[in-house]
Amino acid sequence: MNQHDKLALPVGTTLDRFIMRKQEDFPYATGELSQLLRDIALAAKIVNREINRSGLIDIAGAYGNRNVQGEDQQKLDVIANIRFIRALRNGGEVCTIISEEDEEVIQTGNVQGKYIVAIDPLDGSSNIDVNVSIGTIFSIYRRVSPTGTEGTMADCLQTGTNQVAAGYVIYGSSTMMVYTTGNGVNGFTYEPSLGEFFLSHPQIVTPQSGAVYSVNEGSSNSFSSGMAAFVTYCKEANYSARYIGSLVADFHRNLLKGGIYIYPPTSKSPNGKLRLMYECNPLAFIVEQAGGKSSNGRTRTMELRPEDMHARCPLFIGSKELVEKAEEFLAQEEVVES
Ligand code: AHG
Ligand code: MN
Ligand code: MN
Repeated sequence: MNQHDKLALPVGTTLDRFIMRKQEDFPYATGELSQLLRDIALAAKIVNREINRSGLIDIAGAYGNRNVQGEDQQKLDVIANIRFIRALRNGGEVCTIISEEDEEVIQTGNVQGKYIVAIDPLDGSSNIDVNVSIGTIFSIYRRVSPTGTEGTMADCLQTGTNQVAAGYVIYGSSTMMVYTTGNGVNGFTYEPSLGEFFLSHPQIVTPQSGAVYSVNEGSSNSFSSGMAAFVTYCKEANYSARYIGSLVADFHRNLLKGGIYIYPPTSKSPNGKLRLMYECNPLAFIVEQAGGKSSNGRTRTMELRPEDMHARCPLFIGSKELVEKAEEFLAQEEVVES
């Protein structure tokens, strides 16, 4: 291809233009959700810059604090939390934020804001220091309380079925943002020299089945009998085991290639380790929109009632057939044990 032909090619659809086009599909949309998604994308670019430089400057590694879950808080966790909260506060559309890194809800002061955001600002933090993919996960709800006041607990503890949008950013071999507003799933890849996300994965459809299972088998001594039987089934079927230890990265691979990700109950984390509001629900919304499935092994993730904004739940997520197969093994265990 000569230089002239190359110049004739369009550069592609930017995330901003895509969001705007989608907004035009809804005649009564006010543009606030569009602005909110753009705010998240902007914060993601800033966090991406910090992550790319983290080996050069002293921001990788533990910060010395522990977060509400009692885990070591990494410096980049703190930085990402600050960046996302600042972008959401400045944008004005969000009244209240729930973050993995903050025990209490964050009131942005934008009492007219219609939206609630739940966020895991930096997922996979144990992988920061070793140059392995990490991510951000977010979930957006419309408030149920009237505008003009601060967001309430009822606003924050809605079931996943009420999500109006959800997405994640993966900071990997390239940086991507993948999101849904309930009308399919689209993925955008970051072009660092232009500072823009471009539509690279339109209308993602996840395979109905797959040959990959992703679970931390180091905990297999405390798997339930049904869970252990499912893992044996995967091995007998010659499936591949793939486990990065960054939920976003494991989820993203399985979304595109097919597979199942599981964080089951273990003796260390009897209710699973992952959090319903800002890890499980957003990914459940995305996987369902892509044709996959998500449950706690029995109940659809998005129908679980959140007891607490930091509540944890087991997660079985990915290709429909594999999630259903795992559920069958768990149902069998109840029959055997009763
Ligand atoms: P976070 O860094 O936000 O605390 O999340 C870590 C999570 C998730 O990303 C990953 O899948 C899981 O922890 C790994 O846990 P194990 O090391 O127990 O397998
Ligand atoms: Mn996480
Ligand atoms: Mn995190």
